[in-house]
Amino acid sequence: MTGLSDFLTQLDDLVSEAQSAFDAAADSAELEDSRVAFLGAKSGRLKSVQKGMGSVVGSDKPAAGKRLNEVKQQIQNAFDGAQTRLVAGTLSIGQQPAVDHSVPGRRPSLGHLHPVTQTIEELMDIMGRLGFTPADGPEIEDEWHNFEALNIPREHPARDPLDNFYLNVAHQTAESSLLLRSQTSTVQIRVMEKTPPPIRIISLGRVYRPDTADATHYPMFHQMEGLLVDRQVTMADLKSVLRIFATSYLGDEVHVRFRPSFFPFTEPSVEADYHWNDAWVEFGGAGMVDPNVLRAVGYDPEEVTGFAFGLGVERLCMRRHNITDIRELYKNDVRFLEQF
Ligand code: FA5
Repeated sequence: MTGLSDFLTQLDDLVSEAQSAFDAAADSAELEDSRVAFLGAKSGRLKSVQKGMGSVVGSDKPAAGKRLNEVKQQIQNAFDGAQTRLVAGTLSIGQQPAVDHSVPGRRPSLGHLHPVTQTIEELMDIMGRLGFTPADGPEIEDEWHNFEALNIPREHPARDPLDNFYLNVAHQTAESSLLLRSQTSTVQIRVMEKTPPPIRIISLGRVYRPDTADATHYPMFHQMEGLLVDRQVTMADLKSVLRIFATSYLGDEVHVRFRPSFFPFTEPSVEADYHWNDAWVEFGGAGMVDPNVLRAVGYDPEEVTGFAFGLGVERLCMRRHNITDIRELYKNDVRFLEQF
């Protein structure tokens, strides 16, 4: 009769033999042969050792059965381990790994918003907090909205074809040509034409001028237009809003200067400058809405007054990020753009 200790010894031997056989398998076919040899349901080695159970005395059977189950699991684990190593290719030296889990993963490259777009979003946010609502207008404009209603008559030099991108399109007439808008002040007119006062809007968009590109000029750029019309609006309100805006966007240390100026659609008018790199840089024009403009849209200048301003978005973005040449923004060089 086989004693319990003999039976357990056979089981222990079986585990180490199976482990060695699985480790020695050079490919999955060899590993499968070893699996059948040890774990095969009909004539596997485990099966034949198991038959020895019959000769273990009754009182030892529970211990023998428990150990048998453990050994089955150990051999199965040894097989699973060998299979994993084979797949990873590390079972035998010199074999190329099918998958190298140690290689760092490839990071998907995430894009981000263009610095001018970031600026636009931030400006909208600041002006939104000051109670200005977004408004929009077309980039292809007629002369009424770009000039006439803004108190820029036909003979005014600002309407010179050399200073504007007029469109040579079929429906162009002598009375009203179409052009790429040269300023966002067009949106003032479009909003006032369809909305009674009070008005408090902000409009951010592209404008076009045949300016030669240099460090501070580009033929396409963005403007932020603000318009506030209500009873008893004064120049002091304009100045406060522009100061709050400039310090919110550029920081408390920014020095802002207002210079007397002229725009046909504001009276009085100013240019707003900030100090940067030992020089004053103009960031926008502003003023009190000219009574002629209020009349052109059907408002009564005796009833309401207003202020308007138009700021260069690229110049604000440049000052904020210390970019010294506007052309860098539009070269589409990712190495430059990804810094912001
Ligand atoms: C105007 O366009 C007026 N519509 C501004 C205005 C609005 C005045 C409302 C009064 C009331 P100006 O031509 O100065 O003004 O342009 C405004 C700003 O746009 C400039 O201060 C500058 O910051 C920017 N700018 C002008 N031309 C260019 C250009 N070619 N490239 C980049 N920025 C420019």
